[in-house]
Amino acid sequence: MLGTFDYVNPTRLHFGPEALDALRDELPRYGATVQLAYGGGSIKKTGLYDQVTALLDECGKTVVEDAGVMPNPTVEKLYEGVRLARENDVDLILAVGGGSVVDYAKAVSVSVHCDEDPWERYYLRMEDVACDVVPVGCVLTMAGTGSEMNGGAVITNHAQQLKIGHVFGENVFPRFAILNPALTFTVPRYQMAAGIFDVMSHLMEQYFSGADDNVSDYLMEGLMRSLVHASRIAVVHPTDYEARSNIMWTATWALNTLVAKGKTTDWTVHMIGQAVGAYTDATHGMTLSAVSPAYYRLVMPYGLAKFARFARTVWDVDGAGRTEQDVAAAGIDALEAWARDIGCVMRLSELGVTEGMLDGIVEATFPMEGGYHPLTKTETKRVLTESL
Ligand code: NZQ
Ligand code: ZN
Repeated sequence: MLGTFDYVNPTRLHFGPEALDALRDELPRYGATVQLAYGGGSIKKTGLYDQVTALLDECGKTVVEDAGVMPNPTVEKLYEGVRLARENDVDLILAVGGGSVVDYAKAVSVSVHCDEDPWERYYLRMEDVACDVVPVGCVLTMAGTGSEMNGGAVITNHAQQLKIGHVFGENVFPRFAILNPALTFTVPRYQMAAGIFDVMSHLMEQYFSGADDNVSDYLMEGLMRSLVHASRIAVVHPTDYEARSNIMWTATWALNTLVAKGKTTDWTVHMIGQAVGAYTDATHGMTLSAVSPAYYRLVMPYGLAKFARFARTVWDVDGAGRTEQDVAAAGIDALEAWARDIGCVMRLSELGVTEGMLDGIVEATFPMEGGYHPLTKTETKRVLTESL
């Protein structure tokens, strides 16, 4: 049975090869000063920086440069961004980049008018936003996180060896998101594979939970099938617009909150992946691919029917003459083979994890209750050891 829920998604999304032109409509809705947040320079190499600054200039905006948002944005960078926003009294934060830049922009937006330390308030104490937020808009350059149409923002604190995500309210969703799939053509192969696995993981975290047969399960099966199909094309032909556009749109739908409505969700793989990220600063999607096969094999007996359905529906596993157990196991094998084929990292040791880190990673993993089998610390250690 579908649970009870409210649903709103306030992000206005512009999709397609000419989507950047929508900045001409969007920018006039905000005041004169725009904080332009971007990463390590990919947007300068691709020419996107010049296009965006020309449009900001055309719309009469004063630009506050905010460069150098790193993958897995840090708490120190967050403090720097907040200082910049306060000093310049900015009216809009425009994030141009991948999920890291968009997350960072959201984390700054909820911190500018907040009197407390944002890391402590939002990430350690998980408290709600109780201050004005600075609006955020984004031009997305990489598909994966879904940050373009949700209220989440993940921040890493290396000193405390913690990487934590906070899901903020609807006022923190980007006001607008610009998605031109062609902008993702230049994403390095490793990042593309990581982004694709991230999308699959978002879907699996929401699919493998609850016994209900509801519309979300069917939606997610369709999204997973489309993702697998498009990913196989994109790894061979990175500039195939159709494949990249389907991946980009699937990424948005996988985590724009819709498919979680009315059902329970898991998120254990993300909690383990974030703990791995806190210790290694590894690429997010790769932390998920490395631990997923071991995790799903461990929980499979507790949700056997759903795993068998996943095998049949997403991976076309032929169940004739086989036990449900065999069918379900073949689905996880197919997931693992696909991830390896598209170039995902399947071993934690390749991400810099050592045996000596495992106890610390177990402690840094937030326990989740919504999956088929909440892990004990011993089981979390087992998943990590088997993934090493
Ligand atoms: O920094 P630049 O130079 O721009 O290079 C980036 C970066 O090195 C590069 N890149 C992005 N677009 C490119 C490009 N290079 C060439 N051409 C382009 N078009 O790719 C690298 C990775 O970028 P990043 O933004 O870090 O990747 P992603 O989008 O995967 O974001 C990862 C972050 O998002 C968080 C992760 O934990 C991680 O911190 N997540 C956010 C979520 C959310 N808000 O809902 C959910 C996710 O589960 C995830 O946790
Ligand atoms: Zn993710």
